[in-house]
Amino acid sequence: MNLLIVDDEVSFRVHLRHVFERKGYQVAEAADGFEAIDKAKETLFDVVLLDIILPDIDGIEVLKQLHLSSPFTQIIMMTGNATVENAIASMKLGAYDYLVKPFDFEELSILVNRAFELARLKREREAAEHEKFLKSRFEEFIGQSEHTRQILQLVEKVAPTNSTVLITGETGTGKELVAKAIYRKSARSDKPFIVINCSAMQDTLLESELFGYIKGAFTGAVKNKSGLIEVVNSGTLFLDEIGDVSPEFQTKLLRFLESGEYRPLGSTHTYKSDVRIIAATNRDLKELMKQGKFREDLFYRLNVFNIHLLPLRERPEDIPVLVEHFLSKSCFALKKCVKKCSPQAMKILQDYSWPGNVRELENVLERAVILCDGNQIKEDDLPGDIKSLATAPLSDSNLKLEEVERQHILRVLQETNGNKTRAAQLLGISKKSLYFKLRKYHLEKE
Ligand SMILES: Nc1ncnc2c1ncn2[C@@H]1O[C@H](COP(=O)(O)OP(=O)(O)O)[C@@H](O)[C@H]1O
Ligand SMILES: [Mg+2]
Repeated sequence: MNLLIVDDEVSFRVHLRHVFERKGYQVAEAADGFEAIDKAKETLFDVVLLDIILPDIDGIEVLKQLHLSSPFTQIIMMTGNATVENAIASMKLGAYDYLVKPFDFEELSILVNRAFELARLKREREAAEHEKFLKSRFEEFIGQSEHTRQILQLVEKVAPTNSTVLITGETGTGKELVAKAIYRKSARSDKPFIVINCSAMQDTLLESELFGYIKGAFTGAVKNKSGLIEVVNSGTLFLDEIGDVSPEFQTKLLRFLESGEYRPLGSTHTYKSDVRIIAATNRDLKELMKQGKFREDLFYRLNVFNIHLLPLRERPEDIPVLVEHFLSKSCFALKKCVKKCSPQAMKILQDYSWPGNVRELENVLERAVILCDGNQIKEDDLPGDIKSLATAPLSDSNLKLEEVERQHILRVLQETNGNKTRAAQLLGISKKSLYFKLRKYHLEKE
């Protein structure tokens, strides 16, 4: 509770100071207008008691200035009989209220309390708005590469339709973020958006979650349960890791996509629901199709509209804006202020190959912001493996050498059936450096 008393009469200020300090306020004083304006630059006052006649400038002028510099501060004008008109005019300029001297201190105190409450309310409301704005900003799909621009255009085009969308791309490229962007720009944006991670669930669990079940459908089904498809009716369902579901589930999903019909587990009735499906996977569905693990008809049904996100290393133009974006996101969360990267650190970030894509970049920057002492990220704030992988210059010849190494590691791993201890022995390197190379060449999955 910060209060500023602006009056040229010392004894009056001192008296008021005592009154309000006893009530628990932090009280500052100013003897004239300029001093008041200066003090308000250093401290955020909740309430200012401002005399209309001051030795240097008009109290009304001070009011205008304070209003500009600290919009949440509530100002109570104090006036003698001669200037009541001015005090009334000051209300139009945004003063909270005015009091005519000599006034009752009890009355003043009530007024100050009310003004203080209003100041706090305004400040809280502003802070909440600001937070909301920042949060929504951090959910945007950011980038300035040609690729990202095209993705954003596709999102704009497909969002208002009811079409099923398949989002593909390596892990961490922003598939879920794109799904949310489609949802937010769709006519269903006021209905729920539900994420189901298909790879995290057993088949029957996935099916019962999605389509529901009736009592007695399986042991433990003690009563009927609605599926998400019924619950989110007219909403949007995001099926993540769709490449990991069983053929049986694929059949049921296809049926739903084609007719909007589904049957709860154990039920003999079919029901209808209107849910928009957005699916995503980091797997190569065409390859899975060839292996007979993914139904062709489902693939074509999902693939009506495909959005494919490139790995981050293929769109390095996105890195600088993403860095800026994640720095402010982390700073916001961690209440720090790190606005940029040193040129050396930025070069490392741009040269690294980001096997974990945008998610990895985000995590690296969050860690860097935690470590960072000053106001910019330096090389030292970045993890060691990123630095060593990024600093080797990639001339044509060592690109080829690396390619040979990559192929050789792959072959050895095939020979050892993926046994890394054995592979490291054959290659004559430590297991640790094998892991390092696997990461470097993005071979972890293969
Ligand atoms: N283009 C982008 N702009 C801003 N944040 C992004 C972008 N791409 C990914 N992210 C962030 O990176 C993280 C991983 O994204 P996510 O959508 O979960 O990837 P995926 O589903 O492909 O694994 C999330 O925190 C997401 O907000
Ligand atoms: Mg994901």
